Amino acid sequence: MKGKILVTGGAGYIGSHTAVELIKSGYEVVIVDNLSNSRAEVIDSIQKITGTKPSFYNFDLCDAEKLSGFFKAEKGITGIIHFAASKAVGESVQKPLLYYRNNLNSLINLIDQMKVNSIPDLVFSSSCTVYGQPDKLPVTEDTPFKTAESPYGNTKQICEEIMQDVAKVNDDLNFIALRYFNPVGAHESAEIGELPLGVPANLVPFITQTAAGIRKELSVFGDDYDTSDGTAVRDYIHVVDLAEAHVKAMDRMIGKKQKRNYEYFNVGTGNGTSVLEVIKTFERVTNQKLNYKIVDRRPGDVVKIYANTDLANNELGWKASLGIDQMMADAWRWQKKVSNI
Ligand code: UD1
Repeated sequence: MKGKILVTGGAGYIGSHTAVELIKSGYEVVIVDNLSNSRAEVIDSIQKITGTKPSFYNFDLCDAEKLSGFFKAEKGITGIIHFAASKAVGESVQKPLLYYRNNLNSLINLIDQMKVNSIPDLVFSSSCTVYGQPDKLPVTEDTPFKTAESPYGNTKQICEEIMQDVAKVNDDLNFIALRYFNPVGAHESAEIGELPLGVPANLVPFITQTAAGIRKELSVFGDDYDTSDGTAVRDYIHVVDLAEAHVKAMDRMIGKKQKRNYEYFNVGTGNGTSVLEVIKTFERVTNQKLNYKIVDRRPGDVVKIYANTDLANNELGWKASLGIDQMMADAWRWQKKVSNI
């Protein structure tokens, strides 16, 4: 056993895939999740894939007393991977306090407990949203932050700053922030995947739900951008590749290989793909015809972003291996399972 890892938000989309990869790589996993955007059955699905059932606690990390009680009951945690957070960009504009309260307090409470319980290592879910629309592409980790477009994006920037400030004055605490580009796809077993509540805001779940007949039509937000086909460009990354990056980050921490006690890495493929290219790939790979129309741009969208991943490749020894075809095939396999198609 390599260590005992608390995975917050481990019943969620990226958290559940990471729990699987952690178990496969020899870690013990304990999940805390308040099920605000996930289901308890995911814990059984993780067991189906790995043969091991992670321990599971249902409570909110913002409840400092419960969190403290948890660490008293669950002894021997060696590291934390912190996914639990609110993540809908649009909702964050409507409910900023909810986002600041949830996303900041949960991190602060966890850091308090790292100190009390001498837990040295934390991996944090950050986002490429911290860069806004960068002036130069591909975007490297040295690119300065732009003013956040949303309270959600602002919480990611502030959380990174909190970890950086804490790391400066606590030599015994180590942090790695992973800046995700656009995670899509699902585990190839179709046991776990993304389960958006209500109408999906993100492109790929909207595509798969349209193909499944749940949504009538996909709206493509703008085709007059300065890109090859006029639609916006993103760096889509398979969620299993992303999950593996977390394992590498935790390995780096327990192996004491960090160069500084606060580090941050881009986690993408390095490839930019337009919305129309995503749609065409989905149609080709799955043999489905998608009903879509071009509509106005979505306010707040960046035109084009994709990662320079050299730092993660060289320092974490990690590289994305799954391409956009696989992402679409796996996303569709998962949708078919969920929709009984
Ligand atoms: C956004 C956030 C990201 C956050 C993620 C999670 C920004 C810049 N990025 O990613 O930080 O982690 O949401 O929610 O705020 N699109 C359509 N039709 C649709 C849906 C999307 O054309 O129905 C287009 C979008 O305009 C965009 C691309 O598809 O160009 C990807 O959109 P989406 O999946 O929502 O992700 P981001 O906005 O890139």
